[in-house]
Amino acid sequence: MPSTVILGAQWGDEGKGKLVDYFCDRFDLVVRYQGGNNAGHTVQVGDTTYKMHLLPSGVIRGKRSLIASGVVVDPRVLKEEIDFFSGHRLPVGPDVLGVDFRAHIIMPWHTYWDAARESGTHKIGTTGRGIGPVYESKAARFGVRFEDLVNPHLLMTALERYYPIHARTLKEIFGVTKLPSLEATFKQYCTLGEHFKPYLCDASIEIDEALQRDKNVLFEGAQATLLDNNFGTYPYVTSSQPIAANAAASAGINPRLITRVEAVVKAYATRVGEGPFPTELTDALGERLRKRGNEYGTTTGRPRRVGWLDLTALELGNRLNGYDGMHITKLDVLAGINELKVCTAYQVGSKRITYFPTQREQVEKAVPVFETLDGFGEADWDDACHDSKARGFDALPKNARKYVEFIEKKSGLPVLSVSVGPGREQILLRGATP
Ligand code: GDP
Ligand code: IMO
Ligand code: MG
Repeated sequence: MPSTVILGAQWGDEGKGKLVDYFCDRFDLVVRYQGGNNAGHTVQVGDTTYKMHLLPSGVIRGKRSLIASGVVVDPRVLKEEIDFFSGHRLPVGPDVLGVDFRAHIIMPWHTYWDAARESGTHKIGTTGRGIGPVYESKAARFGVRFEDLVNPHLLMTALERYYPIHARTLKEIFGVTKLPSLEATFKQYCTLGEHFKPYLCDASIEIDEALQRDKNVLFEGAQATLLDNNFGTYPYVTSSQPIAANAAASAGINPRLITRVEAVVKAYATRVGEGPFPTELTDALGERLRKRGNEYGTTTGRPRRVGWLDLTALELGNRLNGYDGMHITKLDVLAGINELKVCTAYQVGSKRITYFPTQREQVEKAVPVFETLDGFGEADWDDACHDSKARGFDALPKNARKYVEFIEKKSGLPVLSVSVGPGREQILLRGATP
């Protein structure tokens, strides 16, 4: 009954969607366990690009997919996403998708709160999807759950309880007057609730039963380790916990049932929004990587900040998540650069540290220490992929292999696959992946 967590090792957008799509054939269930439609997971299949914000990436292959209790759901976005899939002859009915009855619902006021907070001088650079405010409501026991959404009586009770206070405080503090009325909100959400009623499930029971029957379960992380609300670069983090331990807690299963954890590591680093990014490249090289890597947010279209790979951040993730191995993505994007730098330590005043500095005082002073490797030129990446069983990894340019081997040696973690393009098949497998 193997259950595997695949999660991001950096600041998100590592290519998790592509990896989950690629490997999910080996699994019976694919589960999103945290975050919401702040995520944007891309899978490119031929000429079609699928962007998943809420749907687990297993839906493209028609896998049974669950949105577990720790996810926050904007039903307006979920409906749009399902409609997009139906338009591509991939119906996502209740046979394919289940939504845990405990999942919290993003209400119109949550997006208004997010926008209002971000309009001040202290910005996080959020995706503006209401993620922080909905998790606040959840923690404050002031939230609307999926079980409320699908029941008009419970929905009205929740609206009567929560709407007036949000409407009043938004107006008084931030001058928001455009919040849709209680009646309009009820009408819109009631219709959505009716539509989604057949999708209601108990993901905790369904996953547990699947594991008891020796089925394989894949947990798809959203956001990433350095955006973890507890262990990331607080306060420039998201409001959920992407780390692997939370897969069990948020999906509602016994933590001992998680048997494997795999990291998705971009060959360089990116970050969207504010917050520390010590290896950031703000020069022409950064711009080149952004263009070549198409580093523009899947959810908001914002240009992503770009920088060198940080092995201390990988070490932090390994400490928290206990990686069994890693998938390196976007190696092709580094082609044509003469010298590649990798951060292996930090100088903080007179002290050299080999861990990623997350304490505010440290991170402000930390100067990255880089090791430099020879770059590699363009290669026929497709050719290398088509040959993956026989030659695959060996078909990579010598210095590209050396770069991967350097990461492997320094981190002590096996590289399970190397992705060399956005396409579904543009991946080289390395070693055995269970
Ligand atoms: P996720 O949030 O971790 O699923 O990642 P995103 O989908 O937000 O961002 C990854 C982007 O890189 C997407 O546009 C992918 O299509 C693309 N991508 C994934 N793997 C590779 C790769 O190996 N090479 C290139 N050039 N692009 C890739
Ligand atoms: P995927 O799953 C990259 C970032 C935002 C912002 C911070 C807080 O596609 O990797 P939030 O809206 O969550 O309150 O914003 O987190 N962020 C992401 N960055 N990829 C993501 O998801 C992200 N989800 C949130 O840019 O800095
Ligand atoms: Mg993304």
